[in-house]
Amino acid sequence: MVSMETLVSLCKRRGFVFQSSEIYGGIGSSWDYGPLGVELRNKIKRVWWRDFVQRRPDMLGLDASILMHPTVWKASGHVDNFTDPMVDCRECRHRFRVDQLAETPWVHYCPATKGNKFTIPAGGACSHCGAARTLCPDCGKGELTPPRQFNLMFKTLMGPVEEDAAVTYLRPETAQGIFVNFDNVLQSMRRKLPFGIGQIGKAFRNEITPGNFIFRTREFEQMEIEYFVNPHETVEGRPADEYWHDRWIEDCLAWFRRYGIQSDNLRLHEHARDELAHYAKRTADVQYRFPIGWSELMGIANRTDFDLKQHAKFSGKALTYFDEERKEHVVPYVIEPSAGVDRALLAFLADAYREEEVRGEKRVVLRFHPELAPASVAVLPLLKKRDDIVRTAHAIRDELSRDLTVVYDDTAAIGRLYRRQDEVGTPYCVTVDVQTVGDSDKGEPADGKVTIRDRDSMEQIRVEAARLAQVIGDLLRGTAWAEVAAGAGRS
Ligand code: GAP
Repeated sequence: MVSMETLVSLCKRRGFVFQSSEIYGGIGSSWDYGPLGVELRNKIKRVWWRDFVQRRPDMLGLDASILMHPTVWKASGHVDNFTDPMVDCRECRHRFRVDQLAETPWVHYCPATKGNKFTIPAGGACSHCGAARTLCPDCGKGELTPPRQFNLMFKTLMGPVEEDAAVTYLRPETAQGIFVNFDNVLQSMRRKLPFGIGQIGKAFRNEITPGNFIFRTREFEQMEIEYFVNPHETVEGRPADEYWHDRWIEDCLAWFRRYGIQSDNLRLHEHARDELAHYAKRTADVQYRFPIGWSELMGIANRTDFDLKQHAKFSGKALTYFDEERKEHVVPYVIEPSAGVDRALLAFLADAYREEEVRGEKRVVLRFHPELAPASVAVLPLLKKRDDIVRTAHAIRDELSRDLTVVYDDTAAIGRLYRRQDEVGTPYCVTVDVQTVGDSDKGEPADGKVTIRDRDSMEQIRVEAARLAQVIGDLLRGTAWAEVAAGAGRS
C-alpha cells in the first residue's frame, strides 16, 4: 500500500491538492484542490449523481443552503449531542480527543534511566520503569484537564450588526437540509414511498484532531442520500427499512468496486450498540484500507423516523406521508447512505497508485477508472517544430474537448510525456506524427491516422483521425482495449 507521504507529495507536485493558504504558512486541516484535483473531484461527484440520482426512478435531487434556521440544529440534536469529549494539556496546551488517547504514542521521561526521553507505542508501558501514561502524550510533562464536552459545530453570526445578529451554524452534515425539505419535495414531486433524495454539498465540523491529509478536515464535502421507506410495509417478508438498508449497503459497495476500488481493500463494519448514534437503529460503515489503516469511507445508517419526528415537533408542521392503501398517515423511516467526497477521492487515489518496472525503469501510474481520470485524453504532437503537426494536434484537442477533459502537452520528448500522463492517470494519449500529416519534402503522403496509446498495457494502435472521437468515446464507455485494437485496422 502506498504511503500517505508519497500521495501527499504526488498530489502537490502534479497539481491535485495543495495546502490551503500555503504562502502564509498554511492553515490547519484545510486543503485546496488544484487543476487535476478539481477534475477528479468533479468526476467522482458526477458519476455518483448519475448513478444514484439521475439513473434511478426512485431518486430525486436537492441543493439546500449551508446556513439554516438555528432551530434545525436544536431539533436534530446537534446543539446538545454533537460533541466530542476532549482534554487539554496544562503545560503545552495541546488538545486531545479522549477516545483517541489510547491510540496515541506517548512521550515519557523515565525516572529509572535518569529521566531519559522515550517515545512509547500507543497503549504500551515503559519497559524500564513499567509506568503507563498519565501525563500529556505530546510533551510528556503536563497534567491533562478533566474531560469536557466540545461541540463540533462552527458558530457564525447572521445579520449586518454584530450585536443584533442571530447565532447560527455552518451545517455539520447535509442531511438536515433534506429532512426539512421532505414535505416540499413530496408535495411538488408527488412521489410514492419508497423514494430517496440525494444531495452533494459542503459540511463543516470543528474537529478536535483533524489530520491525515484530506481524510479528516474541518471543511469537507458530502454525498448523502435520505431514502424514505414505509415502516408498515414488508419486502420479501422483511420490514421495509431492514430490506432497504441491506440493499443500499450492497449498492454502495458495488459502486466503489465498479469504479476500480479493489475488493480486498473494502470491508463492512457493523456498529456495536454502544457505537450507534442516538438516532440509529443500525449503522454499517464501508471501511477502506487507507494508508493510515482500515478507516471509515462512508456510513449507511437506519435513522428510523427520528429526524422527521423531531422536525415535526420543533416546527409544528406535520412531516408525514399518506399511505393510500392503508388509509393512514405514516412517518417514514430513513435509510441514509452518506459518503465523503474527500475520503472517496483519497481512496480512489490510493487504490489507483502503482509503481511498476518498465524496461529497467520505475513507472509510477495511477490506474484510475477511465470515467474518473482527471484528463480523459492527452494530445501530444511528436514534433513541435512542425507547424502542420502542431496545427493538427490543436484541432484534435479542440474537437475532443467538446465532450471530454483533454490536455495538450508539447514540452518534452514523447517518452517523458507518456510518463507524465501515466503519473496522473490519463487513460489514453493521442500522438500526432509525421505520418499523420505527411512529408512533402520526402514525397510521403499523409495517412490521416493518429496513434492511441493505452495507459495500462502501454500498447499503441493507429486509427483515422476522423474516427478518433468515436473510438475514444467507445473506450471511455467501457469497450475493451483488445476489442478496439482488433478493429483498429478497419476504417
Ligand atoms: N449524515 C450522516 C453523517 O454525516 P458521518 O459518518 O458523520 O455521517 C458521513 O459522515 C461521511 O462524511 C463519513 O463517512 C466521511 O466520509 C465524511 N466525513 C465526516 N467527517 C469528515 C471530516 N471531518 N473530514 C472529511 N470527511 C468527513
